[in-house]
Amino acid sequence: MIKKITFAAVGLALATTAVFAESPHDGAIAARKAHMQLYGHNLGILGGMAKGAIEYDADAASAAATNLATLTKMSQGSYWPQGSEAGAVEGSRALGALWQNFPDVGAKSGEMAAAAAAMETAAGGGLDALRGAIGGVGGACGACHKAYRQPK
Ligand code: HEC
Repeated sequence: MIKKITFAAVGLALATTAVFAESPHDGAIAARKAHMQLYGHNLGILGGMAKGAIEYDADAASAAATNLATLTKMSQGSYWPQGSEAGAVEGSRALGALWQNFPDVGAKSGEMAAAAAAMETAAGGGLDALRGAIGGVGGACGACHKAYRQPK
C-alpha cells in the first residue's frame, strides 16, 4: 500500500515537472493564440459575406460581429507575460517590440475595438453596410500584425 502511494506521488511529481519544463508561458501563449483564432473565425464569416463567398445572412453576420466586439472587451493582460516573445520561447511569433511599446499596443487595441463596434452596428443592416465596415476591422488586425507579429 505504502509503495503504491509512493509511486503515485513520484508519477505526479514527474508529470508536473514535465509540464513546467516546456515553458511557464505555454498556457498564456495558447490562450492568446486561441483568442486570435476566435478573431479569425468570426472575421472569416464577415469577410466571406463581404466577398460574396458566403451568402449574406443578417443574423449570422450580427452574431459574428457581436463575437468580435465581445472579444475586444476581454482583458488580455494575462496573455502577454514578459519573456514570452518569439526567440525567448517556442511557438510564438510575437515580436519583442510589443513589450517595449505598450502605449502603442493599447492604441492599436483601441482601434480594433472601435472597428469591431462599428461592425457590430453595421453587420445586421445589409450587405452594403457590412462591406462598409469590413475594411476598418481588417485594417486594425493588419496594423497590429505588421508592427508586432513576426512574418512567417
Ligand atoms: C494589438 C495587436 C493585435 C491585434 C489588434 C490583432 N492581433 Fe492577431 N496577433 C497579434 C500577435 C502579436 C500575434 C502573434 C501571437 C503569438 O504567436 O504569440 C497574433 C497572431 C494572430 C493569429 C495566429 C494565431 C496562431 O494560432 O498562431 C491569427 C489567426 C490572428 N492573430 C488573427 C487576428 C485577427 C483576425 C485580428 C483582427 C480581428 C487580430 N488578429 C488582431 C497581435 C494582434
